[in-house]
Amino acid sequence: MNMHISNALLLPVVFLCGAAAAFAQASAPVIRETTEPKGWVIETKSSSYRLLVTDKGEVFPAFYGNKAGASSTTRNDAWQQSIMEIPVRGAYPNKTPALEVIFSGRVRDLDLQFVSGNILEIENRPALVITQRDRFYPLQVVSYIRVLPEYDILEKWIELKNTGEKESILIENARSGSIVLPRNAYELTHLAGTWGNEFQVQRAALTPGVKTLEAADFKSFETPPWFLIRPRGQHDKFSGPGWFGTIQYSGNWRMDMNTRYGGGVQVVAGINFWDTHWNLEPGKTFVTPKFVIGYTGRGDEGAAQSLSRYIRKEVLPASHREKLRPVLYNSWYATKFNIRMDQQLALAKIAAEIGVEMFVMDDGWFKGRVNDRAGLGDWTVDKKKFPDGLAPLIRQVNELGMDFGIWIEPEMVNPDSDLYRRHPDWVFHFPNRARHESRNQLMLNLAREDVFQYLLKCYTSLLSENNIKFIKWDHNRALSEPGWPDAPAEMQREARIRHIDNLYRLIDTLRKRFPDVWFEDCSSGGGRPDIGMLARMDQVWVSDNTAPKDRLYIQHGFLSAWPANTMVAWTTDHMQNTSLEFTFDVMMSGVLGIGNDLSKWGDKEKALAKRKIELYKAIRPLVQQGTACRLISPFEDFRAAVEYVAEDKSEAVVFCYNLADDLAKNRLEGRGDLKLRLQGLDGGARYTIEFCGLAPDKQPRESCTGDFLENIGLRWIVSEAGKSQIIRLRKTE
Ligand code: GLA
Repeated sequence: MNMHISNALLLPVVFLCGAAAAFAQASAPVIRETTEPKGWVIETKSSSYRLLVTDKGEVFPAFYGNKAGASSTTRNDAWQQSIMEIPVRGAYPNKTPALEVIFSGRVRDLDLQFVSGNILEIENRPALVITQRDRFYPLQVVSYIRVLPEYDILEKWIELKNTGEKESILIENARSGSIVLPRNAYELTHLAGTWGNEFQVQRAALTPGVKTLEAADFKSFETPPWFLIRPRGQHDKFSGPGWFGTIQYSGNWRMDMNTRYGGGVQVVAGINFWDTHWNLEPGKTFVTPKFVIGYTGRGDEGAAQSLSRYIRKEVLPASHREKLRPVLYNSWYATKFNIRMDQQLALAKIAAEIGVEMFVMDDGWFKGRVNDRAGLGDWTVDKKKFPDGLAPLIRQVNELGMDFGIWIEPEMVNPDSDLYRRHPDWVFHFPNRARHESRNQLMLNLAREDVFQYLLKCYTSLLSENNIKFIKWDHNRALSEPGWPDAPAEMQREARIRHIDNLYRLIDTLRKRFPDVWFEDCSSGGGRPDIGMLARMDQVWVSDNTAPKDRLYIQHGFLSAWPANTMVAWTTDHMQNTSLEFTFDVMMSGVLGIGNDLSKWGDKEKALAKRKIELYKAIRPLVQQGTACRLISPFEDFRAAVEYVAEDKSEAVVFCYNLADDLAKNRLEGRGDLKLRLQGLDGGARYTIEFCGLAPDKQPRESCTGDFLENIGLRWIVSEAGKSQIIRLRKTE
């Protein structure tokens, strides 16, 4: 079991090369060893993390927060509360443990002793690697803190090794790490939702007790794995401290925020070991996924910008990271399962005409897939719909100048399928218990090697026999009974972890075999948006809800953590009493896609779409690769605004939306001073301002300085409900 790292990547820090070496030379070392007191200091752009080793060989986190506020004598809260760097089950249960193990079937306490601490380089980044060992039993615990200073981000994970020769050690819980915030009263911001209403922003005071966010059924609809903790009452979006984090894992995950009366908050995160364990055999290691944590001094937007930039630059698949995401057409809402060659081609022709670059055929193309009751698992082309296979359609789509993409749902099977009839034992199930169906489907047990090999073969054939350049990878049900009757007894509760390991192995192998294919992550919409998937997927289908007003809330929440170049949004015929123009303007603030039934469009709609797609292509580098800033939240007002600024601040684009109904509109109009204040521009420079689509005589005549735009701002010009405005700013000198 080795989730993401091999020893070959560990080099002593003297071998630092490239960007990391330049950073080390240009500034103070990111990680320093201290002797008085014994420990380490880790410094990022704005944070400081301090660790102490006591005379008794215990490792404590001494401080985590603002660099400027960290004094060398800080002997802090965690230390006083005796929460160790790796909190374990053992001694007094006054903390949330990251590790819980059983030795020899009876000893359930861990007792860790410091062995060594080394500053190494891991994948071109400095890392503090602390080795501890149980005082009696043969368990070695190596904890990693890999540092990405320019994002203010630390990655934590733990490696457990059974150094004995005879007995296995039962791991009952192995999270990725823990952090302790300085003593204060805090408030948690997180996201919650359901199908069609994902990423809704939630706020809750962290009062004494434990607040848990988790996934227990392989779905993250209810709470995506992300948190932001700020001192209570500090709501300035652009300034003030905040601690944020996420987990690089797509299976069951868990985050506990343990708040003590008069004390700080301990956050422990990693795999959710509910009904799960791991049998660590002699000589074997278990590596946890990464717990990614960060500190910002720049409020909610600072946290969002650090994390989304880190995901964009460090997590997304390297081969496609810097590429602009294509404008796609997806035929799902136009045709559903009722797919025909001529009808897809007719849609493709219009799509090409308006400027689409990738034509994606969604569900319904494979054997027996006439509705959602049949076909999943049989990944060959439906000969009734495509007698000559997919090649003729793909060839004609290519001739129209577009790439071709397709939908798959690998982890699932319909009972009405050849696969299930042949292998009813391939799904998760318990003997003598119901096999619960959701959307008429069961979940394949990918922990099984035969299931893995079957899926790899299917998709290798599909991708090598057809010129497919895009995969939408769906996952439409939650896990119910996780039984694996064929596996040995001690492996029963490992099934969930093994399933996710093989899911990653499957995607990784396919990406390696087909390096130019784009992959889109979908789970009935945005049900699996974690960075475990995003290390393998280029973008996310954020929600099946394409109604533009609802989307503004969903997209606002999504941008709390994720980069805009992963936020896929389609225009569809579901316009919530707004216009096609408004719908486009909403979807253009992410990765634009078109999902309308194009056969119903007249010349007017086509001309509008063409104009909007052209504009989108012009601003796409800003939207997809700039710094996003949510200037106005729809959760706070009847309007919303999001801005994207080029990295060199030479350009920016702002999307403004008005959601006000008539009543609210009157209220808005009554407030003549409504302003749009921008962020992140070059204060002293002048910018020209263009209101896209407005006649020349309606354009502002004068340029403004960045300082003016930030402090005074532009007049809010969108006064009607369901109306929008895109504003472009360009530096003049
Ligand atoms: C899920 C997805 C949709 C679509 C359908 C196809 O619901 O979220 O976008 O792909 O499956 O069955």
